[in-house]
This record gives sequence, C-alpha cells and structure tokens, in this order.
Amino acid sequence: MKNTVATIMKQKSEHDRITMLTAYDYSTAKLIDDAGAEMILVGDSLGMVMLGYEDTLSVTMEDMIHHTAAVSRGVKNAMIVADLPFMSYQTSVYDAVFNAGRLIKEGHANAVKLEGGTKFAPHIKAITDSSIPVVGHIGMTPQSVNMFGGFRVQGKSEQAALELINDARAVEKAGACAVVMECVPDKLAEYITDILTVPTIGIGAGNKCDGQVLVYQDMLGMYSDFTPKFVKKFGNIGEAMTEAFRAYINETKSGVFPSEEHSFKINDNIDFEKLERECRQNADR
Ligand code: KIV
Repeated sequence: MKNTVATIMKQKSEHDRITMLTAYDYSTAKLIDDAGAEMILVGDSLGMVMLGYEDTLSVTMEDMIHHTAAVSRGVKNAMIVADLPFMSYQTSVYDAVFNAGRLIKEGHANAVKLEGGTKFAPHIKAITDSSIPVVGHIGMTPQSVNMFGGFRVQGKSEQAALELINDARAVEKAGACAVVMECVPDKLAEYITDILTVPTIGIGAGNKCDGQVLVYQDMLGMYSDFTPKFVKKFGNIGEAMTEAFRAYINETKSGVFPSEEHSFKINDNIDFEKLERECRQNADR
C-alpha cells in the first residue's frame, strides 16, 4: 500500500510510530522499501555521505533530481520526500514553488522538505497551494550551519525553546504535512509533538516524536567522518563491506577468483589458431 499524507496522519492519530530513512539510490531505496519504512527521505545529506562535501551547502537541484529519480524507481510503498537544497527556495517564493515542482515532475517525489520556521511559512504555503505536500524541518537545520557556527543542539534556552514552538506552529499553519525536528531537547520535542496535529519526525529529538528518521549510512556504520550523538548503529555494514572488498582483492590476486563456477564454457576441443587462420583465408579471397 502506498503511504501518503493521509496514511501518516492516520499513524499519528493511532500512535503508530512512523519510520523514515534516507536513501539516495535505487538499490538501497528498494531494500528500505521492502523492509517496510513508511517514508524515504532523499536528503541533501547526500552532499556529505554520497558526494563527500563537508556540509550540505554545495548540493544542487540537479543532484537532488538525479538521486530522487533513482530512489523513485526502486520504491513501491514508501512516501518519498525530497529535500529542497540550499538556495533553491531561500531566494524567493517563486523559486520555492518552481523547484518543488521540479522535484515532483523530474524526480517523482511525493513531497518536498525545506528547512526553516516562521520565516519560510510563505514558501510552505505557496508550495502546498500548488498541491505539493511539504515536510517542514526545524531545530538544527544543517543549511544554516554557518549561522549556527556548527552542528549544535537548538532550543536549549527558554527564549530559544519559545522560538522553536512558534516555528513549529507557523510551519503547521502554513500547511506542512509533517515536521522534522533535528537536535532538539526531548522534552521540548514532546511538547511540540503534543501541540501539533501533523506528525513530528525526530532525529536527535528524543523518543516522544511521532516518528524517527536516520541517515542510513550512519545507522549502518558506513560513514565515519562524523557521527552525531543521536546515531545508533543498527549494523556494521561498513566493516562488512571492507572485509568483502579485501576478500575480493586477495582472491583475485591469488587467482582463486573467478573459479569455474563463475566462468563460461566453450567446446574444449576448439582450436583458436585454426579458427583465426580460416578466418584470415576467407577474408583474403
Ligand atoms: O538531509 C537529511 O538527511 C536530513 C535528515 C538529517 C533529516 O535532512
């Protein structure tokens, strides 16, 4: 069954926790979809975990469309949310609608996500008015890393907590169908989850959000450049991959691979020199 805005709203009302994971390519998206996650996020985190940038700021619309289209080819059931990258929506409401449209038409996403609260309410409203579902993203918003002076927990002081509550309300009022909360103290995230009618999806926001999201390379132990406190490793796939790569290298160097099992056969009696000679003679005629 395809997950939609309606099904995730139902999950909130039934206290059925929403699971979301990032994916950036066909094969991984297919595995996550088969595992049963209700939402897949093509996050601009792809700039870091797929493209090797030190933050998300260099990610382009072309990058996002390319990866979203690959994900959409692998997914049957999950609701696909694609990030609007840095400077694809901050510049104007027009750009926000135009670029959201590209993620839907060219990337085949089901919804878009953008970072920011009250200040971006007009952008969220215009996109939803164009019939494109929007997921908000508040708290630690990585596209503002230069303003924050690093990846830091947000909403810790009373003033900051109040601003975050206002942001959450503004994003919902503007029409967002869900709100991602990143690096927010758990009590504050719980309060915001209670006052919103749309689902909250936490990442470093405690256990009381309506759902959770993680970057798949983080939870599989495949990305070691930077591991935030909120990451739990559910597997050690990075190590398993390195081991498998080493085994391939060793077997190839020693001649163990490929064995007969992985080779193709031809008639054992064939004489290739004779075959070539005959071929040449035929050509000379
Ligand atoms: O880009 C991303 O992967 C995200 C998640 C961290 C929520 O925005």
